Amino acid sequence: MQESAVFIGNLTDIADHDVSRFNVNGLEVAIYRVGDEVFATSNICTHGKALMSDGYFENFEIECPLHQGRFDVRSGAALCKPLTEGLATYRVENVDGRVYLDLSCSNN
Ligand code: FES
Repeated sequence: MQESAVFIGNLTDIADHDVSRFNVNGLEVAIYRVGDEVFATSNICTHGKALMSDGYFENFEIECPLHQGRFDVRSGAALCKPLTEGLATYRVENVDGRVYLDLSCSNN
């Protein structure tokens, strides 16, 4: 695990098959849990002023609540219009049920 990783909580405290809003060192981050897998993206839509944590999450896709643009939370890729830009993603580690987020490791 990187020294820059921040403990964000126990896996069992993160809602399963859902998205949660976190503020980590002043950065808005959306955390997605699917069973033992956890993913992290920027919580701010790349299209407008909307929070991914207010969106609809299913099958590794988050749908923006404002214009229904969808992103793949595993890669941050924009999947449909009106999106033209993907979300920043961050590395997450699950160490024996303790979840760490590494903000130094982003795709953007
Ligand atoms: Fe998210 Fe427009 S603000 S799709």
